[in-house]
Amino acid sequence: MKRESHIRSLFEPRSVAVIGASAKPGKIGYSVVRNIVQGGFKGKIFPVNPQGGEILGLPVHASVAAIGEPIDVASVIVPAKLAFSAVKDCADSGVKNIQIITSGFSEIGEVELERRIVDYARSRGARILGPNIFGVFSATSHFNSTFSASAITPGRVAILTQSGALGIAMIGKTAVENMGLSTIVSIGNKADIDEADCLEYVMEQEETRVILMYIEGVKDGERLIERVRGATWKKPVVVVKSGRSRRGALAAASHTGSLAGSDEIFDAVMKQCGVMRAESLQEAFDWCKFLANAPEPKGTSGVIVTNGGGVGVLATDACEKYGVELYDDQGALKEVFAPVTPDFGSTKNPVDITGGANSAAYNLALSATAAHPAMHCTMALYCETATFDSENLVPMLRATYDAHDKAGKPVVYAVVGGAPVEDAIVTLRKENIPVYGDTYSAISCMGSLHRYHRFNRERDDQIDLADIDVAAIDAVIDGALADGRGFLLANEGQSVMRAAGIPIPGAAIAKGMDDAVAQARAIGYPVVMKVVSRDILHKSDAGGVALDIENDGEVVDAYQAIMRNCRAYKPDAIIDGIEICEMVAKGTELIVGARRDPQMGPIVMCGLGGIYVEVMKDVSFRAAALSRGEALKMLSEIRSYALLLGVRGEDQKDIAPVVDTIIKAATIIRSVSRITDIEINPVVVYEKGMGIKAVDVRILVRK
Ligand code: ACO
Repeated sequence: MKRESHIRSLFEPRSVAVIGASAKPGKIGYSVVRNIVQGGFKGKIFPVNPQGGEILGLPVHASVAAIGEPIDVASVIVPAKLAFSAVKDCADSGVKNIQIITSGFSEIGEVELERRIVDYARSRGARILGPNIFGVFSATSHFNSTFSASAITPGRVAILTQSGALGIAMIGKTAVENMGLSTIVSIGNKADIDEADCLEYVMEQEETRVILMYIEGVKDGERLIERVRGATWKKPVVVVKSGRSRRGALAAASHTGSLAGSDEIFDAVMKQCGVMRAESLQEAFDWCKFLANAPEPKGTSGVIVTNGGGVGVLATDACEKYGVELYDDQGALKEVFAPVTPDFGSTKNPVDITGGANSAAYNLALSATAAHPAMHCTMALYCETATFDSENLVPMLRATYDAHDKAGKPVVYAVVGGAPVEDAIVTLRKENIPVYGDTYSAISCMGSLHRYHRFNRERDDQIDLADIDVAAIDAVIDGALADGRGFLLANEGQSVMRAAGIPIPGAAIAKGMDDAVAQARAIGYPVVMKVVSRDILHKSDAGGVALDIENDGEVVDAYQAIMRNCRAYKPDAIIDGIEICEMVAKGTELIVGARRDPQMGPIVMCGLGGIYVEVMKDVSFRAAALSRGEALKMLSEIRSYALLLGVRGEDQKDIAPVVDTIIKAATIIRSVSRITDIEINPVVVYEKGMGIKAVDVRILVRK
């Protein structure tokens, strides 16, 4: 059976068994049966409890096997110690999906029990949702197998949540907000089915117009990336993720690792996929509710109409922050708004119809924006004034919202004032009119709408790969692993660079003093000399580096000094030789890195390099599945990008080979699974046409 249809059977089952169904109100096993029955589910419902009897008029079966009919979903609500045997009975009876509401598994360290349950179910072709969940709701099938206390109003927003408690709270909040749900599913410990699987369902579900995900941690980032990329083509996806902590990152082994606080990677990758990350649940709810109802804007130009200069300025700032462009044809603005704007107001955008404006003035101004073909969205602001006919506030907002609705044009309102204004907000939000008590909240919603459509207009899902010699890289790694090392030596790192076609300075390993002189002559002075030793990772600290060596005599002196220093630093260090390198001319120093992130999979990084890399933290990240265009975008996001464009009359730097290097690093990390971290620092970038040099590279490998 195809996976898609399997996941659909979890949300739209034809039959459901409740294992641990209870006749006692107040127990979860009772609430689930009640919600399935009262939710209007049209399929068959089989309560299961060895005690038998009846629950809500339904006969109770002694076991799943006793049902004797095919079961699409079984909801397991027995204590954890009975869960394996309950799942076994279900899987042996051919149940397709088993949702385990029970807690007490990996979340409290019972990892082995959870793994045994999943392994057994999978071996019988069953999938597990949970454990530690509150259940599933789908408006399509009127299926509510949650133990939510309140009924769920059907609507257009799908919620996938890792936290069950938060999910239940969100059901309550959606009711208050009058935000109907198309689906809500709690994924819990996601021992088997995860958010990527559930996305597969909601992205195709007709009722869903917006998807909201609450994520605590990602287990299989590569799959999630692939799914959200597919989902954002079809509908907006909003995510709230907890855990911005950097503690985990401190343990990372390389610079790339320590810079890559996993939250920053998550953030960057979600943006790359067109997922909109909300800062808070309230922001996420505001966006989802707005996105579920707002029409697609026909263009990018917005108009702000206000009766207060201050909020007008606030709104203008918010438009810049949230990416809403403002209509700028001064002639047209004057023509449209002069009839409702006193001389001391302003027809410039923000249009200030002044504190004397009443509901009639607002009606006129907002009907005009609704009707104007070049004004694509409206942000209407109202500050409570003594001159406004406040009894007409709600009718004015309703009427102008309807005018926009009829014109297929998005509008948001920010209204500020006392109790009557607050009451108006509550009343109108229940009618799904996008009214907010704060300018930034209103405009962040409008921004989310524009951001979603702009992303899809400009999106670039192409994956560019470079032509690299994977066999040569594998051979280098074989050598390092055979040697018992989890990292590559400098010369091995250079071999990897050569295999990927990344330009490196001329270099050779000298095995003795005479060889060092010969190699230095062959490379050409000036040169740099560095110790090569698996026992000395930080060469400068050991006095194992000599710069700017100009002639044969200096080679001899430096050779002796390095040997002496390194022996003193670590007497038992095995020294494989001295590396003689071309002395690289100065240029702009960048860092390019790639790593296999434990959560998000292969990622790439670029940023300002050299010795300040960790101080400046001027870096950007992407999933390693990216195009050259995206690599350039990533580079242009760093603050130091201006240095590459050339400052104070400098020539522009050679950006194209930097983009090549990013793509090559991405290709290595995607194609060579034994490499976990690559860090090329510095990548020295010269003027346009003069190329780059990858001066130093650190590569970590694993078996
Ligand atoms: N097959 C079917 N029914 C059985 C079986 C069996 N093999 N064995 C026992 N039962 C019956 C019991 O007789 C009982 O029925 P009864 O009410 O008629 O007596 C019923 O199953 C439940 O068993 P209890 O021992 O009474 O367990 P209880 O209901 O107290 O707790 C529960 C079970 C709810 C699964 C509990 O162990 C648990 O995990 N609670 C937490 C649930 C949770 O919060 N999940 C996360 C949700 S998300 C969030 O964070 C809110």
